[in-house]
Amino acid sequence: MGFGKPEPSQEPSGEVATLKLPDGQEHHIKLLRPSHGDDLFLDIRDLHARTGCFVFDPGYTCTGSCVSAITYIDGPKGVCLYRGYPVQDLCEHAQALEVAYLLLVGELPDDEQLYAFEREVKGHTLVHEKVTGLYSSFTLNSHPMAIMVAVVGALSCIYSELDCHNSAHRWLACTRLIAQLPTLACMAYRTSIGQRFIYPKAALSFAENFLYMMFANPMEEYEVSPVAVKAINTFMILHMDHEQNASTSTVRIAGSSQANPYACIAAGIASLWGPAHGGANEAVISMLREIGSADKVPQFVASVKAKVAGVRLMGFGHRVYKNYDPRARVMKSLVQEVLNDLHIKDPLLEVAHRLEEVALEDPYFVQRKLYPNVDYYSGIMLQALGIPTSMFTVMFAMSRTVGWVAQWKEMLAEGQLRIGRPRQMYVGAKRREYKRLSAAAAGTSTWDFSKFSFSQQFARKEGSGTLRSSFQVTLPTTVTR
Ligand code: ACO
Repeated sequence: MGFGKPEPSQEPSGEVATLKLPDGQEHHIKLLRPSHGDDLFLDIRDLHARTGCFVFDPGYTCTGSCVSAITYIDGPKGVCLYRGYPVQDLCEHAQALEVAYLLLVGELPDDEQLYAFEREVKGHTLVHEKVTGLYSSFTLNSHPMAIMVAVVGALSCIYSELDCHNSAHRWLACTRLIAQLPTLACMAYRTSIGQRFIYPKAALSFAENFLYMMFANPMEEYEVSPVAVKAINTFMILHMDHEQNASTSTVRIAGSSQANPYACIAAGIASLWGPAHGGANEAVISMLREIGSADKVPQFVASVKAKVAGVRLMGFGHRVYKNYDPRARVMKSLVQEVLNDLHIKDPLLEVAHRLEEVALEDPYFVQRKLYPNVDYYSGIMLQALGIPTSMFTVMFAMSRTVGWVAQWKEMLAEGQLRIGRPRQMYVGAKRREYKRLSAAAAGTSTWDFSKFSFSQQFARKEGSGTLRSSFQVTLPTTVTR
């Protein structure tokens, strides 16, 4: 199996920009040009050493944190390429694992390589029974994303011996994570509905296995729907990677400390969960349900424009795309195809279409270049397949795991491993002398720690080898505020 070495062009272009500081000092900044596209990067790596200045860029709106040869996005033109291939072409022609191989290795596999890769991934789909056992600790109403953060992080307990400097170990972590995320996701769902787990079947494809583990019933034969398989395959490909978004950057930053890869992916899942990122697919459905019908759309759009607290057009807008997200285009036609094939008429689709029409003609959205993103239509499709809303972001996480591990592997394999450590602009108190203040004078809360006790008890049951532990916290009876 190859460990593809992408070759990002990072050579200085020969062009230089000059920064003039208030004291008259001049600093020459080399310009870097990427291998594709018109972006221009100022190479400020020596800025602090030479001038004492930092750059201030909250939200990293114009900061490149790494070089990468995996995904290319042209935001103004609405282009998304995986290793050079348009994502919509891959959705039309390729299987999910074929694209996973492409992202990891750098080239599409031939038949033999694909067969070997599929066998390898399938070999890892069963999860360790110790991890399976963890699911019994979660209550029925636990959010599946909360479960995923916990169980994926817990894989570090099982695979703690991984050496991130060893390429074979890295490959193993990547394939194991790609293989096990669907199994863990389905287990999270089945925990939430109180049903026994269905174990994966080697004879099924990646997408078929997911549907089987989600929906099979131990009492009868499960027939996998080809419409659902195609939809899951496309959904997975569309969500596999999207360069340095919040969750991928989280995985890279966590990995930059050489942390265990399973823990890094758990960090990525946590970052993805929020409604500004992957959690938007769940939030879109809530928004469409709240709007209720197409005639209520203008009223809703008016409250979005008035910036009423907590009201946003979810599934719209993107940090990079200032044009229609190409993934949203694929998702929009896919949702229609799935609903037609399954003979479903979902009133939410009518609301979504009307909302899109109104927003795309409204100066508020036009001026800000706000278009539907990948999350806008995906929920309606997942709902048609019988996937509950709380699982939408889990579906995203399981697909994005491919990109996360590809990016993690790239960072470690390409000699880019340097701990991620941004700077801050401090705006707190200046240095001051310590002086004890009474609570009343300070006007701040004081906890009465004498009434706050922890007691931790561990008891090993000799013979059986089981470890029981209990951790008690006694809260204070009086708290001075
Ligand atoms: N609805 C209404 N107004 C919006 C929206 C939206 N969805 N998105 C951006 N705006 C407005 C902002 O209020 C701001 O207006 P202002 O200039 O008057 O202050 C302007 O457009 C610029 O928006 P920012 O918030 O600065 O854009 P940013 O790049 O920081 O945020 C984000 C991008 C988080 C995706 C944002 O567009 C958003 O919240 N969208 C809705 C949530 C969503 O769909 N997230 C999924 C993103 S895709 C993904 O992660 C897979």
